[in-house]
Amino acid sequence: MKAPKSVYVCSECQYRSPKWMGKCPSCGAWNSLVEEIEDLPKEDLKRKLVRGSVLDEQNPAMRLEDLALPDYMRQSTGMKEVDRVLGGGLVLGSVVLLSGEPGIGKSTLLLQISDALGINKKVLYVSGEESRGQIKLRAKRLHVKGDDLYILTETNIEKILAQSDAIKPDIIIVDSIQTIYHDQTTGMPGSIAQVKAVTEAFISKAKSEGISILLVGHVNKEGSIAGPKTLEHMVDAVIYFEGEKQQSYRIIRAIKNRFGSTNEIGVFTMGDRGLCEVENPSEMLVSGRPINVSGNCTVCVMEGTRPILAEVQALVAKTVFPVPKRTASGLDYNRISLLIAVLEKRLGLAFCTQDVYLNVVGGLHIDEPGADMAVILALISGFKDIPLPEDLIAVGEVGLAGECRAISNAEQRIREAARIGFKKIVIPYRNYEKLDSDDYGIEIIPAKGIFDILKLFKKAE
Ligand code: TYD
Ligand code: MG
Repeated sequence: MKAPKSVYVCSECQYRSPKWMGKCPSCGAWNSLVEEIEDLPKEDLKRKLVRGSVLDEQNPAMRLEDLALPDYMRQSTGMKEVDRVLGGGLVLGSVVLLSGEPGIGKSTLLLQISDALGINKKVLYVSGEESRGQIKLRAKRLHVKGDDLYILTETNIEKILAQSDAIKPDIIIVDSIQTIYHDQTTGMPGSIAQVKAVTEAFISKAKSEGISILLVGHVNKEGSIAGPKTLEHMVDAVIYFEGEKQQSYRIIRAIKNRFGSTNEIGVFTMGDRGLCEVENPSEMLVSGRPINVSGNCTVCVMEGTRPILAEVQALVAKTVFPVPKRTASGLDYNRISLLIAVLEKRLGLAFCTQDVYLNVVGGLHIDEPGADMAVILALISGFKDIPLPEDLIAVGEVGLAGECRAISNAEQRIREAARIGFKKIVIPYRNYEKLDSDDYGIEIIPAKGIFDILKLFKKAE
């Protein structure tokens, strides 16, 4: 059998090269190539598989019907918003990756939940980023007492696992995975090989001893988790922290969850005493929205099982560039390009001479087509410089012909809009036909297409 070969892998883009290079030819990152041992050559692997095949009687294939339903033991984190995103609490023995930009509040959240988790479980909080003193100070500020909360400042994986054997915690928190290293693995802490090796070690610890492990992962400049994408594949759940650092809103969202849905979000505000849960996100997200200003429209999107109101803002201004500028924060760039093209073609609005800046207030990311109608209204309002009625809300998907397509959970969205005090709601005609009640305490404006909403501007003119 041939000896295993070395291969150099880029920690940014996973480009593989047989020799070391200073600059990755694929993504252009400097000093990102780290040495790894190549897996068995394919031919050898095939030979080995054929020769070595044995029937494992301990682990036979089973009929789906004969499998027992698992009974996941969940532990509440003491924060309803976090529990919801995790699918009802932290599953014992699971590995969760919490990721987000620096300074967004990951360490704060973990220290806060370790307080509640420490009520009837033993928690080991491992920090490779802060000193004991810094953690103590933060804990004091957050009023975290944690009788069964142990703090360890260490970056060597073997020493961490040895401490864990001594303390026997139920939950281990690691802040952050990029600072932890393994002696026998090459590369700097945070490199692809190191992150993979230490994550594997934590996962096997979690699975063999039933310990829940929460890992913090940093995101790089492009917004993806620093280190290999495989990190996301390895863990049971990945939770992202969203929000703008300048504002106090923080949103957590599961982008992968083997034990629950990935649609739910948790909303917080960051204050003097750390993160505070927001039970009523709609009120928070639309409070303080500008009134009687053109280019604004409120929308109601479904985040998991909850309808949430948000404010879409469009600034449309004459361009001074040969190619007009378009930026979208909180919305999908390709989607808004498509909606602008629909407006240009179907309504003849000359957006080709205008810069368009779109934003969702409060740092919420909307990726639901049900927000199209509100984006369209905000764009027309910004283009014509005519404000929409302040008590108007709009939902509906817009198709390429300018038609308004039906959305899910229309009734729930109508009720949420009425509850927050809106007086008019634009909904797709297909949803309007199927409504059960004719009185929701809000005027319903059915729309078959974008032509039907132009009357909203006529009244204002
Ligand atoms: P932190 O949890 O350290 O972020 P991360 O671990 O994601 O890098 O949060 C740091 C920010 O939060 C910092 O800018 C200060 C702010 N903060 C508060 O506003 N209030 C608080 O009570 C705490 C602890 C932090
Ligand atoms: Mg931190």
